[in-house]
Amino acid sequence: MATSKLFSPLSIRDMTLKNRVVVAPMHQYSAVDGLPNDWHLMNAGRFAAGGAGLVIIESTKVERRGCGTVGDLGLWRDDQAEAFRRITSFIRSCGSVPAIQLGHSGRKARSERPWEGGRPLLENPGIADWEDWQPIGPSAVGDSPAAIPRPLAREEIPHVIDAWGRAAARADAAGFDMVEIHAAHGFLIHQFLSPKANQRNDDYGGSDTNRMRFAVEVVEAVRANFPANKPVFMRFSAADGAGWEIENSVALAKLVKEKGVDVIDCSSGGIQGAVNTAAIDYGYQVPYAEKIRSEAEIMTMAVGLIVKAHQAEAILQAGQADLIALARELLHNPNWALQAALDLGIDQPFDLVPDQARWWLEKRAQVTRKLTPPDASVR
Ligand SMILES: Cc1cc2nc3c(=O)[nH]c(=O)nc-3n(C[C@H](O)[C@H](O)[C@H](O)COP(=O)(O)O)c2cc1C
Repeated sequence: MATSKLFSPLSIRDMTLKNRVVVAPMHQYSAVDGLPNDWHLMNAGRFAAGGAGLVIIESTKVERRGCGTVGDLGLWRDDQAEAFRRITSFIRSCGSVPAIQLGHSGRKARSERPWEGGRPLLENPGIADWEDWQPIGPSAVGDSPAAIPRPLAREEIPHVIDAWGRAAARADAAGFDMVEIHAAHGFLIHQFLSPKANQRNDDYGGSDTNRMRFAVEVVEAVRANFPANKPVFMRFSAADGAGWEIENSVALAKLVKEKGVDVIDCSSGGIQGAVNTAAIDYGYQVPYAEKIRSEAEIMTMAVGLIVKAHQAEAILQAGQADLIALARELLHNPNWALQAALDLGIDQPFDLVPDQARWWLEKRAQVTRKLTPPDASVR
């Protein structure tokens, strides 16, 4: 099939992707002191070697106090940027493009890992810089009533915004070709956007324009510190069921597009209760990507229970999105892109994977395409 959109290249600024299969950011909760280690190399590496065009490293924090858990990655120090270099060069060596999501947990900081329960840490379990890890937020409104953040003073806000800019510069130095600003899932930027979490009465709260000010200034800081030839994506909770609706996201998309954001990654939920991963149907967030794409006239990425090649292809063919991101399906099969290429009948599917696998898989296919596949009775 020569006309597949999923397997056609895409260029955004100077970044060229070999296909539209994107590894969505997936937190590993496995860093020590914000530093990536062998786990992160292996994890990003298996997706890059599996044929995805773009690998987005998980939400990596721009400030120490922005860490959600003890295992969060960080880019608030230069040694952290240095430690990412072998990951970016490995991803690139597989023919994929390295990208990173920048985030700040705000009031959701200082929590247990999900598999430990995900609750706010209310007492110090022995962390040396516990006091530096105080959750902050736009207002003293907690995600949980047990964990009320310290509201940021007006004069502190520019410093937090600067931290995004510095982290973006480090992401560039580490070799990332794209940064994604995490403005979704109830984390700090989303907290400012939300009329529930943001009850400020200065120029960062109140009206829609004021609540969007923090997000827009983060974009300005990132753009000022990240090369103009490299794209910037932004992840939205396109609708959160708690006062932020798709129309608000369309308005914000128009604003940030003017400031140099290239793609909106369309997720949902997270400001009240869990992120909407307990979804009701396959492709449940695709309508958000479609609406933002058509009304804000900006490229979008669809994510959320996209699991089959033909499903992904149909989303792109219908003009609902420009890119397809997958998370849990890639945990199930890191070679999903290769499988999708086979399912769609793409020419030279094994060119997607590095020579170490490509050569053998091509040879095997020359033999097996003449055979009848074994049925369940064959041992
Ligand atoms: C293990 C795991 C970690 C995640 N970490 C992040 C993250 O760091 N940043 C983010 O924006 N979303 C994160 N997500 C959400 C995914 O990027 C994705 O939006 C969501 O899982 C829905 O896509 P899926 O149905 O393909 O899994 C995570 C999801 C999983 C399963």
